[in-house]
Amino acid sequence: MTTQTPRRATAGSRLAAPYLITELPGPRARALIERDQRVASPSLTRAYPLAAARGEGYVVTDVDGNRFLDFAAGIAVASTGHAHPEVVDAIRRQAGELIHIAATDFYEPRYVEFMERLAAIAPFREPARVFLTNSGTEAVEAAIKLARYHTRRPGIIAFEAGFHGRTMGALSLTNSKIKQRAGFGPLLPMTFHAPFPRVRGWRERTGGDGTAELETLRRTVLGRLIAPSDVAAIVVEPIQGEGGYFAAPAAFLRGLREICDEHGILLVADEIQSGMGRTGRWWAIEHAGVEPDIVTAAKGIASGMPLGAMLGRASLWTWGPGAHGSTFAGNPVCCAAGLATLDLIDRGLRQNAGVMGKRLLAGLQQAANGTSDVRDIRGVGLMVAVEFASHEAANAVQQAAFERGLLVLECGEAALRFSPPLMVDPQAVDAALRIFSDALPAAARPKRGMQEVGG
Ligand SMILES: Cc1ncc(COP(=O)(O)O)c(C=O)c1O
Repeated sequence: MTTQTPRRATAGSRLAAPYLITELPGPRARALIERDQRVASPSLTRAYPLAAARGEGYVVTDVDGNRFLDFAAGIAVASTGHAHPEVVDAIRRQAGELIHIAATDFYEPRYVEFMERLAAIAPFREPARVFLTNSGTEAVEAAIKLARYHTRRPGIIAFEAGFHGRTMGALSLTNSKIKQRAGFGPLLPMTFHAPFPRVRGWRERTGGDGTAELETLRRTVLGRLIAPSDVAAIVVEPIQGEGGYFAAPAAFLRGLREICDEHGILLVADEIQSGMGRTGRWWAIEHAGVEPDIVTAAKGIASGMPLGAMLGRASLWTWGPGAHGSTFAGNPVCCAAGLATLDLIDRGLRQNAGVMGKRLLAGLQQAANGTSDVRDIRGVGLMVAVEFASHEAANAVQQAAFERGLLVLECGEAALRFSPPLMVDPQAVDAALRIFSDALPAAARPKRGMQEVGG
């Protein structure tokens, strides 16, 4: 728990300025946290004591009335900003008409329209079919199932430090932190992890173009561990999210495409964190000019309503009725929120993510110039990370930022991620940069034994 003297930040516009009126956590937050800790699963990882009551745009107000600048966006979810009026209106209208029908059993207009809209932006030329889900992990499960069913092969290859979710299939691919896997085995058989290029380019240069990692995939994984003819899919995050915001080099993604084509393996792009306009394009893999066979999405797809999607080339869907389904997935209210979200992303938020991302990246690099505690600063669009020398240093800056009214979240081993709503403006970015600069000296006095967070 942190405490601090009340402060009023005056920088930035009225909206962009955090406004702290109690110590943190305040009295109401403390009471709520106490109740939460009695009933919530101990597996949750709250890095700092934010007890949220309201959200508007990029500002979150806590239960005591303190206002925070939200550069976490509920783990990269609140894409259009909190409570965007068009999203709220769509949810309200739909809730008054039809909340649930079960698309597995019946037809419904919002469900069809939302899938049509997603199919129209699929990152491959062949027409797309879509399966909607309630979460990211379910979209990955659906991708694993479709890949296995279509190819009639059992094997899946994923990458070191990747994160794909926590249900048993997706968890078999996840390995960004060992505590996500510990105690849950046995996981899916015939899943293997190949090295992922960790490209750093700011203070130190590491990672290259992925040639070495492709070589290990070919020689060690496909040459010794699993025959290519047993592999249904290679599942990759074009930008690793929980693993530390590492963008795969274009040559690496092209190499994966070649390996897949050579052996009849499906290439699955997990864009649950990197998709939906966050990098300035609908899909991060578009930056590399590579077409996957399947793509998964969730997080920012419906501005916070629980919705995910698995899109695949039409010719892959060889399964028939009963092979897969879900009671709630593609719920009309979620689809209405999703449609409003797609409209907003299409009407300018995608472009804004690109422009604001550059401003944020440049500003962070400038802010960190004078300190040796920062190891790297990298990112594409509004998926930006600052990597520190240790987890403790990253966490100390995360805490100091919170105490000053800025919400950011750790990722990887020692990085802080900036994943704000795509509607942030220059005032919000500049205010976040000022707070970050102010919080940065905390990296030099890390506290031991702090919790790590995970998506
Ligand atoms: C790339 C990626 N895949 C899958 C998931 C799992 O999504 P969810 O938490 O909605 O199940 C996440 C969540 O962080 C993610 O970042």
